[in-house]
Amino acid sequence: MKSIRHDLVILGGGPGGYVAAIRAAQLGMNVACIDENSRFGGTCVRVGCIPSKALLESSHLYHEAKYRFADHGLQIGDLQLDLATMMRRKDQIVDTLTGGIDMLFKQRGVTPYCGRGELRDAESVEVTDADGVTTLVEGDKILLCPGSRPASLPMVEEDGDRIGNSTTALSFPEVPERLVVIGGGYIGLELGSVWNRLGSEVIVLEALDRVLAGIDSELAQLAHRTFKKQGIEFRTKTFVESAKRDGDKCVVAIKDGDPITCDRVLLATGRTPATGDIGLSSIGLETDRRGFISVDDDFQTGVKNVYAIGDCIGGMMLAHKAMEEGTVFVERLAGIASHMNYDVIPAIIYTHPEIASVGKTEDELKEAGIEYRKGVCPFGANGRARTLGEPDGRVKILADKKSDRVLGVHIIGARAGDLIAEAAAAIEFGASSEDIARTCHAHPTLSEAVHEAALAVDNRPIHTL
Ligand code: NAI
Repeated sequence: MKSIRHDLVILGGGPGGYVAAIRAAQLGMNVACIDENSRFGGTCVRVGCIPSKALLESSHLYHEAKYRFADHGLQIGDLQLDLATMMRRKDQIVDTLTGGIDMLFKQRGVTPYCGRGELRDAESVEVTDADGVTTLVEGDKILLCPGSRPASLPMVEEDGDRIGNSTTALSFPEVPERLVVIGGGYIGLELGSVWNRLGSEVIVLEALDRVLAGIDSELAQLAHRTFKKQGIEFRTKTFVESAKRDGDKCVVAIKDGDPITCDRVLLATGRTPATGDIGLSSIGLETDRRGFISVDDDFQTGVKNVYAIGDCIGGMMLAHKAMEEGTVFVERLAGIASHMNYDVIPAIIYTHPEIASVGKTEDELKEAGIEYRKGVCPFGANGRARTLGEPDGRVKILADKKSDRVLGVHIIGARAGDLIAEAAAAIEFGASSEDIARTCHAHPTLSEAVHEAALAVDNRPIHTL
């Protein structure tokens, strides 16, 4: 077997791995990045964030053309949905972006290895490519970032076709007449929205008494109401016991309820770390019960010179969290005083309207007994939102009652995902709500709703009462 040595060997070419590889190369390291896929970018670029956002955009435009163009005086006659073209567009975006990573690796001098990687010892990974050829990739340091996979449920019989996960739901060959979504979380609502807009009857089954369990409960309630108005049916406190194929149909069994027959099932009940088959036992590294690897502040695992970042170490399973960890890990390795601030990781749900949060939720502040002031601006009071035809939603700013320091910002409304960046910067810099209120925001922009919410913290909003 051929063996090649590097300063740093990265196992996993998703957002955590490829960003760490590029940063390491920038810092002068001889770095290798291994991925079992022929295309780098991981779940995020290939079968996650990027293709889902492509479909969210296309389906949104379809929905706008069908129901809202007329408000603008635009009559377009007989609107046709060409699903195959929509899917091709999505695939082309993925191709362009994965090709972009290949190009960046080349320009920066990162050595890519495409093949299944398995740890042999604490300084080598055996890579087996698609033709079965193996290479021993050795490194002074090894960074594990294998990411995560969709979690399965024991009684849900996934066949990768009619009963499948988020990857399956990104490529349905036709619009299902009735789609049952198991799980009212990020994936359930994003992909549920796509197929609802394209014409499916979508039923979301959620075990808990609310959807979007992790986010600010006031926003989650608003979101629930909005998606219901859009035609998605929600059944909360509904625990799915099994799902089975029955010919071309599927039958979903529910605890204490009637079974539901549908055309397709999307299982979206969370993700699980992909740590089971990367050879951890060969270096004596154990995971916790759920498969997560524990690390210290330098991302060092229990084994010297072996490190881990991203979904496999737990915390928020978000691409940008993994990217940040990859950067911080490599910079610390190079002696740069870099650190992670887990208190400022924005989270966005790309439904329509979008939902975006950063910092503490109101529920968390109440629970911790922290006194706060709250400022709210409804988008209905924002001129730009009106011109966009997007008056629904609000910006909510939570600031410490004594110091006025911004503790949390929660937005539901058009382009909330872009607006949250200002809030993240404010919290990162330790800004007060007064700092945001004293910052001139361009008119007419949606960002003025953030400004107005900051004014409202001090009870002096201009455009709302
Ligand atoms: P999730 O954890 O957000 O939601 C899963 C839901 O399924 C929970 O509310 C849970 O109560 C429910 N559930 C579990 N078992 C059930 C059962 N038997 N019957 C009915 N309901 C049941 O997980 P999701 O949506 O699969 O997303 C996975 C990960 O991917 C998340 O950690 C998320 O952060 C990430 N993601 C992020 C996106 C973004 O940043 N926009 C988009 C998509 C995914």
